[in-house]
Amino acid sequence: MALQARLLINLVAGGLLLAALAYDWLGNLAHELIGTAMFGLLVAHNTFNRRWYGSAVRKGGRDLRGWLNIATIATLAAVMLILLATSIVISQSLFSALPIASSFSARQLHAQAAYWALVIVAVHVGMRWSMIMTSMRSWTRLGAPNAGRTWILRVLALSIAAYGIHSWTVIGTGSRLLAEMTLNFWNFEEAALHFFLHQGAVAGLLICVTHYTTALLQRLKQRF
Ligand code: HEM
Repeated sequence: MALQARLLINLVAGGLLLAALAYDWLGNLAHELIGTAMFGLLVAHNTFNRRWYGSAVRKGGRDLRGWLNIATIATLAAVMLILLATSIVISQSLFSALPIASSFSARQLHAQAAYWALVIVAVHVGMRWSMIMTSMRSWTRLGAPNAGRTWILRVLALSIAAYGIHSWTVIGTGSRLLAEMTLNFWNFEEAALHFFLHQGAVAGLLICVTHYTTALLQRLKQRF
């Protein structure tokens, strides 16, 4: 399958992950349908990338970036498996007929894994940002990069990252990642769109930090 089509599948999977976080707004059935569709797309995503696993096991990471890539994907796989297993255990709609008892701790683990999944997916995407940009450039036939466009995109990325720092505190991402008890329930009736803007900005912040850190490591490697 063409890389652009694969990137589109990844974009939809990422969008479904963001959407699933709005549980209180969607209600249970829609949340479970969205989560199941995301896992379906992730099965396709891993099928397209299956050769990577063989080469990671045979050759390992060739450099620091390669090892960080392996560590990120291994952590992502673990978090997604926890998310999948807890989804089946706590299901109230699609898998409720299965004879498995739900529990408070399984629900708490499920919610915490979901927030970690967003963070690690953003790091995973950030590590591939240059490739995504190259692919978008050829898709939109924009031609070779030019300084003006690069600076406009940099300013845009830094603005999203700055807003992401604000969003991190507004939605209480830190407490959610640490599973701290919080009274920070989102009022979807008043601000549903804001929820997605803030979650998207947090993801943007992490993509940005990962991309520029990876680029810096690459430069240091070339210099020394
Ligand atoms: C919503 C979630 C995810 C998004 C948005 C995402 C995004 C991406 C992108 C943009 C790429 C590069 C383009 C491509 O090959 O398709 C990629 C590669 C890859 N992804 Fe994901 N991914 C997600 C979840 C996962 C999960 C859960 C796993 C593993 C359990 C995974 C494993 C991989 C692997 C093995 C590669 C190839 C790595 C390489 O070539 O260096 N991804 N992903």
